[in-house]
Amino acid sequence: MGLLEDKARARLFYKYLSTVYDTINPFVWNDRMRNQALEWFDADRDDRVLDVGSGTGFATEGLLNHVDEVYALDQSVDQMEHAFAKFGKRGKVTFHRGDAERLPFKDDTFDKVWSSGSIEYWPDPVAALREFNRVTKPGGTVLVVGPDYPKNRVFQRLADAIMLFYDAEEAERMFREAGFEEMDHYVQQRAPGTPRAITTVARATDADAADAADGRSESSASGRLSRIPFL
Ligand SMILES: C[S@@+](CC[C@H](N)C(=O)[O-])C[C@H]1O[C@@H](n2cnc3c(N)ncnc32)[C@H](O)[C@@H]1O
Repeated sequence: MGLLEDKARARLFYKYLSTVYDTINPFVWNDRMRNQALEWFDADRDDRVLDVGSGTGFATEGLLNHVDEVYALDQSVDQMEHAFAKFGKRGKVTFHRGDAERLPFKDDTFDKVWSSGSIEYWPDPVAALREFNRVTKPGGTVLVVGPDYPKNRVFQRLADAIMLFYDAEEAERMFREAGFEEMDHYVQQRAPGTPRAITTVARATDADAADAADGRSESSASGRLSRIPFL
């Protein structure tokens, strides 16, 4: 497990990073990559949408171009302060301080759930994805952006020591273990030589039925991988 896959350490990390986050972020995750992901997300204006690990609100801002209101959840109050400054504490964004692995919402609350750049910090990503499946209405979209696993051995070692980096095969395993059956994976990159992002777009299942079927190893659905470089 990487150094930052620890909730307290991630909070401390963001206490300091939050002040420069919006300046550094575009080097790895920029407007064009986010907007492409928003197209895959395909939200309708009146969809009830949750943004998990919403941070300073970079994705929340993009989501608000497509939907009327967003529920935003993050575990770092320092990151959230920056989002409050952008959107106000009460308005189109309803903020919750909380943990991706224990979402404070009832089953089937949301039409769609989005999370960008946060999964790499979660100690138990499958538990969080199970929560995403639980709070999303069956058939709703769950979109998760994370860091794609590096190809180079030296970078792999470094990546493994810091946080979760994963490829499409691992994304497939995590999502299936969390109860999802239908999903696609996309790889994006800002420019050659820069870190790649992997995005999984999945359909929520009936979480109760998925629990009941737990232990069933075979599934007929298959995930696909597309590469969307240099957007
Ligand atoms: C790289 S920022 C991503 C911010 C934003 N989603 C974006 O697209 O720019 C990662 C965020 O995930 C949050 N985070 C990390 N672990 C979390 C957890 N277990 N539950 C909720 N939020 C978490 C961090 O506090 C941080 O604000």
